[in-house]
Amino acid sequence: MIRTQVLGIGSYVPDRIVTNDELRFLNERHERQAEPTIQTDDAWIQQRTGIRERRYVANDGQTSTSDLALQASQRALADAGVAASEIDCIIFGSLSPDFHFPGTGVVLQQKLGISGGNCACYDIRQQCSSFVYGLQMADALIKTGVYKRVLLVGAELHSHSLDFTTRGRDVTVLFGDGASAMVLGPQDTDDARSGVLYTAAYADGSGANDLNLKIYEIKRLPYLDYDPKDRDNNKLMYPHMDGKRVFLNAIRGMVMSSQKALAVTGMTWDDITWFVPHQANLRINEKVVEFAKIPPEKALNTIQFYGNTTAATVPLTIDYWRQQGKVKKGDRILTSVFGSGFTWGAAIFQV
Ligand code: UT7
Repeated sequence: MIRTQVLGIGSYVPDRIVTNDELRFLNERHERQAEPTIQTDDAWIQQRTGIRERRYVANDGQTSTSDLALQASQRALADAGVAASEIDCIIFGSLSPDFHFPGTGVVLQQKLGISGGNCACYDIRQQCSSFVYGLQMADALIKTGVYKRVLLVGAELHSHSLDFTTRGRDVTVLFGDGASAMVLGPQDTDDARSGVLYTAAYADGSGANDLNLKIYEIKRLPYLDYDPKDRDNNKLMYPHMDGKRVFLNAIRGMVMSSQKALAVTGMTWDDITWFVPHQANLRINEKVVEFAKIPPEKALNTIQFYGNTTAATVPLTIDYWRQQGKVKKGDRILTSVFGSGFTWGAAIFQV
C-alpha cells in the first residue's frame, strides 16, 4: 500500500533577534527610538505568553516571505536528498504572502529554478493551521498517485504588518518571522504505522471575526480607503484579535483534536515520541498538555525564542529540536494546531 513519508525537513529564521525589551522601543521601520513606542514590558510578555524574543528580517525592504521560504525549502531538499527539479507540487501556507495575487507558491517555484510547467502550486490560507491542512492535502495527493514529491512550505513575514504602538501591543508582542518546509513522497509499505498515519482538519467560521487582518474589504467602493502614510488612523492595516476568545478556543480545539487523534488510531502516548503543538502562546500549550494528559516531557516548544511564526511553527519546532539532538529519524510526532478562521486540526506522522 502506498503511504506518505516525510523525506526531509528544513527551516529558516532571520538573524536579527528582537528581545522583549528592544521591541518596546521600535518604530514601524524597526528602528530603535529613544523613548518607548509600545507600553509593554518583558515581565508581562513572559508571564502571559512565555515569549522572550523573536526574529525579524533586516529592515532594508529587500526580503519577502518567499525569500524566507526559499531558504527553508533548500534546506529541506538537501535533507531529503531530493533535487528541486524533482518537486512536482508545492503547497504554500502563509498569511503574509508576497502579494495579494498571484500566490507565493509560484514565486517560490521561480526562485527554486523550477518554473516552466512541471510543478503545480497551491496556496492555502489556513493561517496557524496551515501545516496540518497542507499535510492532509499532501497525503491525499501522494497516496492517490497524483504527485510524487510534494514540497509543503509555511513561511511568514509578520514584522512588516504589526502595529508598533500601544494600540497593537496584544498582537505585536506575539509574532515573529520565519519559515519551514517538508519534502514528502510515497513509499510502498504494509506497515500501517509508518509515515503519515493520521490527519484531521476542522473549521468553525463563526470565529472569523475574532482574529483577522483585513487590509481591505472588497464589498466597499473604494475597496481600499486608507492613506498608507497615516498608519495610525488605519486600523484595517493591522491584525485584530479577541485574545481571550482565541485563547480559550485554541485550548479546546487542540485538546479535543489531540485526544481524537489517539482514539481514532488506537494509539496511546506510549506510541508517540513527541507532542509538537502550534506555537501561539506557551500558556496555551501548557494547558493543552495538562487537560489532554500529555506527558509534559514529550512536549516540544520554540515559542520562547521564535514567537508565533504561524504557518511555519510545527516543522520549525521539529527541526530546531532535531538540531539539538532530541528529535531523531523515525520518531513519531503528534501535532495539534489552532488559528484564525477558526481552523484547527491534528496529525500523527513519523519524521
Ligand atoms: O495562533 C493563534 C493566534 N493567537 C493566539 O493564540 C493568542 C491567544 N490569546 C492570547 O495569547 C492572550 O489573550 C494574550 C497574550 C494576547 C493577552 O493575554 P490576556 O491575559 O488575554 O490579556 P487581556 O487581553 O485580557 O488584557 C489584559 C490587560 C489589558 O489591560 P487592562 O484593560 O486590564 O488595563 C490589556 O490592555 O493587559 C493589557 N495588555 C498588555 N499589557 C502589556 C494587552 N497586551 C499587553 C502587552 N503588554 N503586550
